[in-house]
Amino acid sequence: MTRTLVLLAHPDLDTSRVNTALAAGIRDLPDVTVHDLYAAYPDLNIDVAREQRLLMEHDRVVLQFPFYWYSAPPLLKKWLDEVFEHGWAYGSKGKALHGKSLRIATTVGGGEALYRPGGLNRFPVTDLLRPFDATANLTGMDYEEPFIVHGASSFGDGELADHVRSYRELLLDRVLQPAA
Ligand SMILES: Cc1cc2nc3c(=O)[nH]c(=O)nc-3n(C[C@H](O)[C@H](O)[C@H](O)COP(=O)(O)O)c2cc1C
Repeated sequence: MTRTLVLLAHPDLDTSRVNTALAAGIRDLPDVTVHDLYAAYPDLNIDVAREQRLLMEHDRVVLQFPFYWYSAPPLLKKWLDEVFEHGWAYGSKGKALHGKSLRIATTVGGGEALYRPGGLNRFPVTDLLRPFDATANLTGMDYEEPFIVHGASSFGDGELADHVRSYRELLLDRVLQPAA
């Protein structure tokens, strides 16, 4: 049994369309825990021991967030700063996360064409996510291919439903066949 911890970091879920739908689409999956960080810590004071315990109880970690200023919202950065402690997550005695996997699931306002050399945002999102790749490497985690939802500020309900389905299938470890 593979247990998956989805750390959802959206500062304003009440106004979120896409992350709300993605989270709703996976919440009922067996062996998936959706942990809403902003709901758990409205005062931004993270319970580090609780977070480390949660991590130990799962094999796969998914960081789900809206892409803000080419990065993650601030509570997720604070979570990493505080939870991935020296001597626990890294350093000669820090092996708690070894062998687990880390995947980014992010919703990006801009379309894919804007995220390429010569485009408005210059770099592919996979490049902008490199700090997470390096974090996985330092902590002995396997960095899985990011799940990137482009055009999240503008696509319609049909496309949103497709993304929700893909996300669900990904967490179920199923490869989706394109519709005929
Ligand atoms: C503060 C802020 C910063 C943002 N920065 C970016 C950005 O750097 N690149 C981008 O493509 N979209 C950016 N967006 C758009 C969000 O990524 C987009 O609205 C979000 O992914 C939609 O998901 P939601 O419906 O769950 O909120 C930003 C939005 C906000 C509010």
